[in-house]
Amino acid sequence: MIHTDISALNTQFGITDQVTFIEGQGGLITIEINNAECSASIVLQGAHLTHWTPRNQKPVIWLSPAVDVAPNKAIRGGIPICWPWFGPHPTNADFPSHGIARTGHWEVIATTALTDKTQVSLRLIKDPNKNELWPYPTTLECHFTLGRELEIDLVSSNTGSEAIRIGQALHTYFNIGDIHNISVIGLEDCFYLDKVDGGKRKQQQGPVKVSAETDRIYTDTDADCLINDPEYQRQIRIEKRGSLSTVVWNPWVEKSTAMADMGGNAYINMLCVESANAVDDVRTLQPGDVHHL
Ligand code: BG6
Repeated sequence: MIHTDISALNTQFGITDQVTFIEGQGGLITIEINNAECSASIVLQGAHLTHWTPRNQKPVIWLSPAVDVAPNKAIRGGIPICWPWFGPHPTNADFPSHGIARTGHWEVIATTALTDKTQVSLRLIKDPNKNELWPYPTTLECHFTLGRELEIDLVSSNTGSEAIRIGQALHTYFNIGDIHNISVIGLEDCFYLDKVDGGKRKQQQGPVKVSAETDRIYTDTDADCLINDPEYQRQIRIEKRGSLSTVVWNPWVEKSTAMADMGGNAYINMLCVESANAVDDVRTLQPGDVHHL
């Protein structure tokens, strides 16, 4: 069922002073979350978290100043959910980049108020018009726990009778003080595929620093990452499970300028560090298998 009735959603899933459904930007249903530890917003289309701010902090998640939130359009910033493939489709270049979930319709399964935390659970609605893109019986659920920490559990289940292959990512855009001064700790010595250098395999020396267009898939790593942000005087810790690939992306000035929903200097305040299942880490799910990212 596709929810269109905001008052029905508020009746069934709203929690007084904590979870409210509104008509947000672009007319899209948006879930506003407020509790003792944070505020957050999730656009129902794409199960796309666009904002999460712990109390007394600057926003941790970056949303483009030129974002165009609209039906069926990917949102620049926040946490796009890439699924069931990451990047270009492995065999069909006409299929949308990063899969079908980030612009898909999602339904609400549950909302729960816990002490200082709020849980929101969403499920991707199967779209018969996208059968050609993904014909396999699969369910995808996303469980958000929002508080002083943000936890996202993306759950893929193979409900069909043949094996399927899932590539995916939590394509998180982090809000940072200045890209020139950031370092990412945790990927030292890891090998990565350098997408701005023809996919060459290279080895990371020391922390990751960004001083040009950067588009890398770090492979075979289950490491937690730490974004060290001297400008904002904070460190953001990214812990992950069910993932052996981490993507680091910043488009830098030229690409940023060329993207209508990004704009000239926007790249300075963002860095994507994405917990992924990409390249060799694409997962095979046998019938009945469930994978948590
Ligand atoms: C990154 C990819 O994860 O996403 C990049 O590694 C890509 O290659 C970027 O450009 C943004 O993708 P999109 O489809 O949101 O423009």
